Amino acid sequence: MARDASTAPMRPNGGGAGPRHVAVIMDGNGRWAQQRGRPRLFGHHAGARRVREIVEACPGLGVDYLTIFAFSTENWKRTQTEVAGLMSLFRRYIFKEMQAFVREGVRVRFIGDRLRLDAKLRALMDEVEALTGHNTRMHLTIALNYGGRDEVARATKRLARDVRDGKLDPETVDEETLPRYLDTCVLPDPDLVIRTSGEARISNFLLWQSAYSEYEFTEILWPDFTREIFAGMVAGYAGRERRFGAVSA
Ligand code: FPP
Repeated sequence: MARDASTAPMRPNGGGAGPRHVAVIMDGNGRWAQQRGRPRLFGHHAGARRVREIVEACPGLGVDYLTIFAFSTENWKRTQTEVAGLMSLFRRYIFKEMQAFVREGVRVRFIGDRLRLDAKLRALMDEVEALTGHNTRMHLTIALNYGGRDEVARATKRLARDVRDGKLDPETVDEETLPRYLDTCVLPDPDLVIRTSGEARISNFLLWQSAYSEYEFTEILWPDFTREIFAGMVAGYAGRERRFGAVSA
């Protein structure tokens, strides 16, 4: 998965190739609710409806992989009411959407540290992953209790155990080794990372994987992020040239 200028598939997108993998930091639910004088959870529920809309749009736009940041390792610092409301929303969302994902050929995966999530939610996550495990039309990855640094730390721990157990020669460790231990080991790196709500930072999302990603930052709040806006960003990506550190041909 790791790329450098010599091994990277040059994808000069002037040729019109769209992003195969889009990752999204869905920000702005709280402000959207606040603007309407409603509680923050109202915004998260509106955000969940947009997730459905964007998932539906992907196959038609040639996006095979969509990865969404639903809950970060830092989000536990929010009020107990908001955290509990979000966990309940995730449970209901997975339960409600499960059959639709099966029907629509969407393979669902989760990345992040599951250990801190409650048993009921974890059981639903396992169930939807198993039920959709043979789907190939589209890959939806939901980052839940995810942090990029936490992921690298957990990957390093697993790698170190393999060295300790004689399964890995430390002299062979290179850029290709660590990605095999990341939560995203079966996914391609994101081509395009989108963040809504006007913040221009990546907030610990896919730190290793997004080294060569293109970025789109928009002022639009996530609950207002329509499939048309998404389609515009996907089309805009096709006009960019990615050089992975090399020079133009
Ligand atoms: C950031 O907005 C958003 C979150 C922490 C939660 C994201 C969750 C959803 C979009 C809900 C649905 C997701 C799934 C997978 C069902 P914010 O609350 O930080 O907004 P603010 O910056 O305006 O306060």
